[in-house]
Amino acid sequence: MLGLVYRLLFKMVADKGGPEAVARVRAQAGVDEARVYRMNEPYPDDEWQRIFAAACDVLDVAPGKAEKLFAECFFADAYARFPKWFEMCKTARELLELQPVIHNGFATGLQAPAERHKVIDKFRVEAQDDRIVTHYRSPNKLCGFYVALVERVLAHYGERAEITMLKSLKKGDDESQISIRFLGKDARHAR
Ligand code: HEM
Repeated sequence: MLGLVYRLLFKMVADKGGPEAVARVRAQAGVDEARVYRMNEPYPDDEWQRIFAAACDVLDVAPGKAEKLFAECFFADAYARFPKWFEMCKTARELLELQPVIHNGFATGLQAPAERHKVIDKFRVEAQDDRIVTHYRSPNKLCGFYVALVERVLAHYGERAEITMLKSLKKGDDESQISIRFLGKDARHAR
């Protein structure tokens, strides 16, 4: 997992629990308190999993709830840091179809092919007539985070969709498959 995501998780922990919560998460996950996470550098997935588990424990939230909270923080940062992607895309579908491309942009800076593949092999979006089906494979099993981000993207564009988990890494499937059927503008939040 790239350093940007670690940094955002530590920021969320600090916002919710203060600097002492960050120190506890690092200690519990077995990560040196001085370890630096650089935005575009890759770090081992098992390290991410230990830190995420420790963050849930220290903040006393279930992993599913933590994925939702983290999606809020992640979206706010992505929107502020990379507004061009959101300006380019006029609908939630456009943004969600572009999401693997956005991610793959981060992989181009990685020298080692194995590290590049860890990023680019995670997502594939299959476009169908009224829906997309996202195929997601990752040892991090952040399917709940993905779905929460889809919901956040829909809210951003004032749209509705039916989201169905067709397969799930968390249930032991070889990949997660998330179907997103677009239902148009949300009358309650029309912009
Ligand atoms: C401007 C928008 C976005 C940016 C800049 C961004 C950036 C990133 C980066 C740098 C990572 C780490 C990738 C890795 O190390 O493999 C990541 C992970 C992830 N992103 Fe995004 N992302 C964006 C939008 C989205 C959206 C819209 C979704 C879902 C609808 C999404 C879902 C995820 C998930 C599920 C992961 C975790 C992957 C894993 O390790 O299992 N992202 N994102």
